[in-house]
Amino acid sequence: MALVTTTEMFRKAYSGGYAIGAFNVNNMEIVQGITEAAGELKSPLILQVSAGARKYANHTYLMKLVEAALIENDIPIALHLDHGGDFEICKSCIDGGFSSVMIDGSSHSFEDNIALSKKVVEYAHAKGVVVEGELGQLAGVEDDVKISAEDAKYTHPDQVEEFVSRTGVDSLAIAIGTSHGAFKFKPGHNPMLRFDILDEIAKRLPNYPIVLHGSSSVSPEYVKIIQENGGRLADAIGIPEDMLRQAAKSAVCKINIDTDLRLAMTAGVREVLYQKPEVFDPREYLKIGRANIKTLVAHKIVNVLGSDGKA
Ligand code: 13P
Repeated sequence: MALVTTTEMFRKAYSGGYAIGAFNVNNMEIVQGITEAAGELKSPLILQVSAGARKYANHTYLMKLVEAALIENDIPIALHLDHGGDFEICKSCIDGGFSSVMIDGSSHSFEDNIALSKKVVEYAHAKGVVVEGELGQLAGVEDDVKISAEDAKYTHPDQVEEFVSRTGVDSLAIAIGTSHGAFKFKPGHNPMLRFDILDEIAKRLPNYPIVLHGSSSVSPEYVKIIQENGGRLADAIGIPEDMLRQAAKSAVCKINIDTDLRLAMTAGVREVLYQKPEVFDPREYLKIGRANIKTLVAHKIVNVLGSDGKA
């Protein structure tokens, strides 16, 4: 099957009350772990690549890994640029075969964000590629995107209709309290998401797909394995799964997950290297990391996203 855009995926997810997982990929084992889980569970899938991933693995290698996944798995897969920071990177990914890009103009003024997003939409749509925009700012760190808790801003519901109609973006990432990275909430504080903002936005944009970034749950099981095998990750806290489940049943059609994959891979690799210091064959530890990713993604698809059987 060839790459698809997210249009049909989001239409079905919206009406079916589930969400599509958008998982970040950086190497072969990550691509394999994610796509094997989605393939076996017949789940539609978004694989996403950040600017950092393109720097690390190179565009061509990532494209070929995704092409291999399309041959091996009979499910719809969209390939998406995560957090495109300017027109040039979006253009490069559109020209290079991606089916979806994000233009993240959220650090600019409202007017500049509109102008930049509109320019990307015009270029992308002419080539059959869809575009995700962003309004509001998430706290946290992900590759080149770093926003302090003080600078984070919830999305204003009264801006969303104007933003979507003037830019033509196909989906909108919003800020309701999720954040990038492994340290989303302070210990002792109750995790909280602003579902009231989400509901208001959904009311103002009927039948329109909303995206949640920063949606890893930071599984305590993997944090424990990392801690017990020489790692240091005290106080890592993510978004509770029941909140994500609730979001997936609403207008949220795409849920971004990166940190959980990093933790699953790291837990597997650490466990082998720490417990078996004699191992020096990379396949011995990478296969455990890959298996952890597969287990994690299968769990998300069934218990968080609800996208199993929807391919
Ligand atoms: P996490 O850091 O919560 O996995 O978020 C990833 C993300 O939003 C990618 O854009």
